[in-house]
Amino acid sequence: MMNRKQHWETVYTKHPDHELGWYQSDPELSFRLIEKASPGRGRVIDVGGGTSRLPEKLLDRGYQKIAVLDISATAVAKAQARLAQRADRIQWIIADITEAQDLGPFDVWHDRAVFHFLTDPADRKRYVELAARTLPKGGRLIVGTFALDTPPRCSGLDTCHYDAAGLATQFGAEFRVVDQVSHLHTKPTGTQQHFIFLTLERV
Ligand SMILES: C[S@@+](CC[C@H](N)C(=O)[O-])C[C@H]1O[C@@H](n2cnc3c(N)ncnc32)[C@H](O)[C@@H]1O
Repeated sequence: MMNRKQHWETVYTKHPDHELGWYQSDPELSFRLIEKASPGRGRVIDVGGGTSRLPEKLLDRGYQKIAVLDISATAVAKAQARLAQRADRIQWIIADITEAQDLGPFDVWHDRAVFHFLTDPADRKRYVELAARTLPKGGRLIVGTFALDTPPRCSGLDTCHYDAAGLATQFGAEFRVVDQVSHLHTKPTGTQQHFIFLTLERV
């Protein structure tokens, strides 16, 4: 049985981006939610960013402090190669988000399609505690997960599914919901998946 890290290294080694179910040529919704959460273009961390095109979109828009964290060194290497010289302007962190202790302060925490892989409540608890340590009061956490009607597995792994209320509950009393968006993602194969995106404020 492969561990979590080996699983993701294998996925990114075997498949080019356009074969990945979560691939987006333009992470338009994530970008829009970050812009709304941080009009002053504050510090942004993309948790489980993989090979997403979000960092270059944020660089183009003038964000100065951007970090991308992912468990897969292969994904990070691919993203760095794509960004070429601009990769130096991003902080790259190879880590399991359930094991990281201190990421330093960020104003916006963004997670598209990572939290729903945390099927163990203890992992979710560590994730939420780290997010609460990372975001100062008033900071924003944007999280996008599978909605209730999406099939139960992704990339060969079990996932959790949420509606807005269920997802908000995961984040407890240190966060309050400020925005919610339903989103239909079209996979490269043409099939569609419902996502729910919440923006929460650290209180
Ligand atoms: C479905 S992909 C989404 C990638 C990216 N957020 C996007 O929207 O394109 C999930 C990503 O989370 C990463 N990941 C999975 N579990 C993780 C963990 N425990 N800690 C950090 N990254 C993780 C994977 O390597 C993968 O890049």
